[in-house]
Amino acid sequence: MSQKRLDGRVVLVTGASSGIGRATAIALANEGATLVCCDLKAEANPKGYEKDLAKPTADLIVENGGKAIFQKVDISNFDQIEAAFDTALQEFQRVDIVVNCAGFWAPFRKFADEDDELWSKMLQVNTAGTSKMSRVAIRQFLKQDVDESWGSRGRIVNISSCAANIAYAGEVAYCATKAAINHMTRAGAIDHAPDSININCIAPGVVATGMARGNLENKDILQTMKGATPWPRLGIPEDIAQAVLFFCLPVSQWITGQVLSVDGGMTLGVPA
Ligand SMILES: NC(=O)c1ccc[n+]([C@@H]2O[C@H](COP(=O)([O-])OP(=O)(O)OC[C@H]3O[C@@H](n4cnc5c(N)ncnc54)[C@H](O)[C@@H]3O)[C@@H](O)[C@H]2O)c1
Repeated sequence: MSQKRLDGRVVLVTGASSGIGRATAIALANEGATLVCCDLKAEANPKGYEKDLAKPTADLIVENGGKAIFQKVDISNFDQIEAAFDTALQEFQRVDIVVNCAGFWAPFRKFADEDDELWSKMLQVNTAGTSKMSRVAIRQFLKQDVDESWGSRGRIVNISSCAANIAYAGEVAYCATKAAINHMTRAGAIDHAPDSININCIAPGVVATGMARGNLENKDILQTMKGATPWPRLGIPEDIAQAVLFFCLPVSQWITGQVLSVDGGMTLGVPA
């Protein structure tokens, strides 16, 4: 059997049941990785666009000949994060890659109308959850040797948002907590580059997932989003998954601390 590019790698993906996380888990499994699919529940977001929505991600991977398990994790619950790593180590003895994809978004409102409850949830999930997953991952990577054929001791790929790079109206808490992920990526990467640990980030534009469906089905919002995206189409989860894959491959071993916009040009400037 031919060697695949992620053969032998063990990967934890959060938000793996739906949308971008699901496409990422599948893309990495197709390259030979063993997946720990972490999410609040195994079932996909029912508002998603996946053709095989009824089938949990791990089941889909296993059916296609890959290796995957589901692990229930709320990334705002730090005990559950530690339990997920314990499970990964018990089952597969190592963790090579963590993809921090789980995130929380809430429909638009003015800054003055945001409350402490919203801010607390956004901070706990988007910022603290990503931070906790990353810190536990790095501690594990530090116990593992640098793999010379791969070039790294371990890798983290964060998913922020185009809203982390530029400001969007009606999304202050989301913009701020996602911007924190961009900078956590850079600051964390400086600390751990000497350890051969890569930390990179993808900032997606508008991607057709369950999270975005409410916006995509609103004629006015859709028109605004299309108008703000210079590329002739909006995104699909695979656009993001393939960029995540790049950050996991041997060829990207000397790249760290980078935030890659995968957004059809949305954050380049004002389109014509
Ligand atoms: N879809 C877009 O247009 C878009 C744009 C920019 C950024 N993003 C980001 O991409 C990521 C994935 O979103 P998506 O669009 O695929 O949405 P989605 O709803 O399809 O998937 C999100 C998944 O994350 C899980 N999740 C939510 N909170 C969690 C938690 N606390 N712990 C564990 N899992 C949790 C959900 O159960 C769901 O399965 C999010 O971080 C989102 O902010 C999405």
